[in-house]
Amino acid sequence: MSPTGTVVEAQVMRWLVDAAGFPATAEGTLVSGGSVANLTGLLAAREARFPGSWTDGVARTPDAERAVLLVSGHSHYSVERTAGLMGLGSEAVVSIPDRGGKMDPAALDDALGVLKREGRIPFAVSATAGSTATGLFDPLDEVADVCARHGVWMHVDGAHGASFLISEPLRHLVRGIERADSIAWDPHKMMWMPMSTGAVLVRDGRHLNAAFRQKAPYLFHARPGEERSWDAGRMTLQCSRRFDALKLWVSLRHYGADHFAELLETTVRNTHSLHAKLAAAPDFEPMHAPESNILCFRHLPERGDGFQAELRRRYNESGAGWITTTVLDGRRVLRVTLMNPHSTGEHLDRLLDGLREVGRGIE
Ligand SMILES: Cc1ncc(COP(=O)(O)O)c(C=O)c1O
Repeated sequence: MSPTGTVVEAQVMRWLVDAAGFPATAEGTLVSGGSVANLTGLLAAREARFPGSWTDGVARTPDAERAVLLVSGHSHYSVERTAGLMGLGSEAVVSIPDRGGKMDPAALDDALGVLKREGRIPFAVSATAGSTATGLFDPLDEVADVCARHGVWMHVDGAHGASFLISEPLRHLVRGIERADSIAWDPHKMMWMPMSTGAVLVRDGRHLNAAFRQKAPYLFHARPGEERSWDAGRMTLQCSRRFDALKLWVSLRHYGADHFAELLETTVRNTHSLHAKLAAAPDFEPMHAPESNILCFRHLPERGDGFQAELRRRYNESGAGWITTTVLDGRRVLRVTLMNPHSTGEHLDRLLDGLREVGRGIE
């Protein structure tokens, strides 16, 4: 990156670090998105618990073969992928049962106890703030209590939901995120930045630096006595990078964070209003109460998973709208992410009417 890019990114990162409630020791970097942010945060966790993994490799690092990564049952696939990428093996991932679609802190506590008694080393817990399927938030404060009790690194995959930090009325959903050791945060999701604008934040910046300890004198110029080097390349997989910080810097200066908070609040309000419409309609069933701008539901009468999948396919093909689908508790469901703050109640009615019309044509 350029000298200007480096300085602007440092300002943007400081803004994100402050918004997260992290201390001055925190460091971070912009990355391509949530997947790389998860990997980077968990690389820092690996090095913190198993120092030397970076230089000697996991196979030759004492105890690293006993490492376990605990994740929310509904975590994004990129979190589990990190275990494979870090040389721990995807078998090193243990998924914690949900309670109402959220990580159950009691189950996490039990799992940590059992793993320790078995001689395994749980080195990190990855909680989710705004899960991909349902947009629900794990109880971060309670997860932080459990992590603190067991001395385990807490990572928060806030790719979708960390942006809720900027909204006064919605911030309670991420209470406890400030106690995390690392956070993945995608401004290219709920701050409406163009792709790509992902970020990783690490509470104690030393761990982030240790995650990629390398010498590259043609680029990294640590000056004697300098407490914090400006070389952004120390903290990221990437070398050449776009000046992604600029769009966030300009947007924050021009519109201010409150503007994005309003957009966020509007989409969440719309999602609550869609939920009310679904709950009131005899021919739809919402699968959960929404917390963010994601909602899953089914069209009734019950005609099996094939019907929901076919309904989604034909509705999208009709051109009337575009929705997604997922599987919740073994059942195929319809899923929407309401991203457009200009959507109104009329658009939501049209969505349901459009689904009804397409549904009538399916045998
Ligand atoms: C919770 C969560 N984590 C991580 C990711 C991956 O983010 P990206 O596509 O920016 O790599 C997503 C993407 O949808 C997500 O929802």
